[in-house]
Amino acid sequence: MNTTSTPSLLSVAGLRKVYRTRHGAIKALDGVSFDVAPGETLALVGESGCGKSTLVSTLLGLASFDAGTIAIDGNTTTAHSNWTKMPPRRDVSVVFQNPQSSLDPKMKVRSIIGEPLQTVGVRGVTLTDKVTELLGQVGLGPEFLKRYPHQLSGGQQQRVAIARALALEPRMLVLDEPTSALDVSVQAQILKLLKALQARSNVSYLFITHDLGVVDYLADRVAVMYLGRIVETGPVSDVFSDPRHPYTKALLDAVPVIDPTRRRQQAPLDGEVPSPINRPSGCSFSPRCRWATSTCRASEPPICEEKRGREYLCFHPLSRGQIGDLTGSPNEAA
Ligand SMILES: Nc1ncnc2c1ncn2[C@@H]1O[C@H](COP(=O)(O)OP(=O)(O)OP(=O)(O)O)[C@@H](O)[C@H]1O
Ligand SMILES: [Mg+2]
Repeated sequence: MNTTSTPSLLSVAGLRKVYRTRHGAIKALDGVSFDVAPGETLALVGESGCGKSTLVSTLLGLASFDAGTIAIDGNTTTAHSNWTKMPPRRDVSVVFQNPQSSLDPKMKVRSIIGEPLQTVGVRGVTLTDKVTELLGQVGLGPEFLKRYPHQLSGGQQQRVAIARALALEPRMLVLDEPTSALDVSVQAQILKLLKALQARSNVSYLFITHDLGVVDYLADRVAVMYLGRIVETGPVSDVFSDPRHPYTKALLDAVPVIDPTRRRQQAPLDGEVPSPINRPSGCSFSPRCRWATSTCRASEPPICEEKRGREYLCFHPLSRGQIGDLTGSPNEAA
């Protein structure tokens, strides 16, 4: 899905990744395509196991893939059989969910943030100065230079992880649930920081999260993933106000509503995500979809492009009128 009008910084096309296990082949990525423009934030949402972290690993060169292409700033990587782990990329870096496990407990903050800089020959006082500057960018003072990760709060640890990720001035930051391990108030500070950093540097974000509130706050566009596929993508405001795919609608309905007068009528999402080993035939969402028909169960839905940058995979996309009719009996169309 080519979803942006500006030239892409990241362009992923037809990406496939299969894990071969004793129990069978798991299609973790089943033809994933999307683009991210410079300075843009694309949020990737979807239930556990839909392939988000697998996608991150392939983007970072930490895992091989079986088909498709990944182009970053014009450099294209294709699937190949004699794959070896790639050296760290300068143009893309990553912040993981849990700073406790992503930061080396035996290293001081100066070394943690300084390590990527050392790989490009920065040393001594220049290194300390640069690390101090990076600490400043993430709102931490020079007194943190000599601290170990266990001497930092969760929020401070994640600030250090962000500073390290920014050390080589990447064009793109991949954020794999960077705030989900933090308290809500700390989450808000980190999100604010990420917004401010992007405004300054025009870095692109690929932001992976379960939290649709975070998507609304931070992202320009959203891609909704289900069982290894992107089933809907578009500007956040369009997708959230007028979802086309029933799965997107179900995710939106699963967001708790605090105001009791606005409690939702229908149960959001029934059933478990099917096993990626025994995928349902046709549309993978059909066993959980109240609008699924025999067509949905027999054939895979095509990509529908409603307008540039607004696409979905569904035979029976929702319209505003239909959304108001959610309390009707499921599978009426079957
Ligand atoms: N190394 C592996 N070997 C075999 N199967 C794997 C491996 N890593 C992931 N999987 C499987 O691939 C699918 C996608 O996993 P992935 O970790 O990418 O999901 P995710 O969307 O990041 O989930 P979560 O939201 O829980 O982090 C899952 O079915 C998972 O069990
Ligand atoms: Mg994951």
